[in-house]
Amino acid sequence: MPKLGPGRLEGKTALVTGGAKGIGRHYSQALAAEGARVMIADIADGKALTAEIAGRHGADSVASHKFDVSDEKAVKHLVAQTIECFGQIDVLVNNAALYSTLTPREFTAWDTELWDRVMAINVRGPYLMVRHVAPHMMERRSGKIINIASGAAYKGVPRMLPYVTSKGAMLAFTRALSRELGAYGIAVNSLSPGYVLSDTGLENSAHVEDERIPVRNSRAFKRDAYPEDLLGTLVYLASSDSDFVTGQSIVVDGGSVNN
Ligand SMILES: NC(=O)c1ccc[n+]([C@@H]2O[C@H](COP(=O)([O-])OP(=O)(O)OC[C@H]3O[C@@H](n4cnc5c(N)ncnc54)[C@H](O)[C@@H]3O)[C@@H](O)[C@H]2O)c1
Repeated sequence: MPKLGPGRLEGKTALVTGGAKGIGRHYSQALAAEGARVMIADIADGKALTAEIAGRHGADSVASHKFDVSDEKAVKHLVAQTIECFGQIDVLVNNAALYSTLTPREFTAWDTELWDRVMAINVRGPYLMVRHVAPHMMERRSGKIINIASGAAYKGVPRMLPYVTSKGAMLAFTRALSRELGAYGIAVNSLSPGYVLSDTGLENSAHVEDERIPVRNSRAFKRDAYPEDLLGTLVYLASSDSDFVTGQSIVVDGGSVNN
């Protein structure tokens, strides 16, 4: 039976990659606020956020781990640490990606090394996470995997070709994986944000210049988007409210992608 009301994730453990900064920081906070114990996994230091969440929800509610999502050994270590710390993983949020630090450019200007790096973090990374987290979920015959894709993959946003390609891969990854994990009661869905004014995104003026005004004008709701706009959908996908939903992608962008 769906658990309604606040505390919908009480007794659950969530692992959020890229959970220390940008939009991921808000995901970590929102999941903890719903009662989940949260492992913040990021290449960036999550200690300050861990202290903040521990102060609000108790020391047992959160831990952080520094790792590189494209490195299989590091992923294995992270998963082992999470199980050791919390005993289980109920929710995996595949959020870490190369995005805000990428400078938009024409398709010929991406060198192959950077192309490969984007694919390693944005596509191989989520695969490695699933490869090492899903067996724990399969044993318990339950789990929620949330892949963060992007409205950019639906719209074919120009000047970000490897990024947009990697996010298109997340949509296909979600569909195919949901078929393999359905037998184990594990839901696999993706959340596709539109252009969001996150603190890290605002640091890259090229994104702000290319996207802020055109995207706002393309929306049914003509306003900027903030990380807070994504949290209801994230918690929905993480909680039992969405128990019969799998293989889907929910676009949260104020009605810019409209198909
Ligand atoms: N900001 C937007 O407008 C927007 C729109 C659509 C989708 N998204 C997606 O949402 C997610 C978060 O976006 P954001 O704006 O916070 O981007 P961001 O670039 O600021 O954040 C990405 C997070 O991943 C972490 N990270 C980067 N490389 C890593 C690695 N190798 N190993 C582990 N962690 C790593 C970063 O430290 C950061 O915490 C990304 O998947 C992004 O593609 C963002």
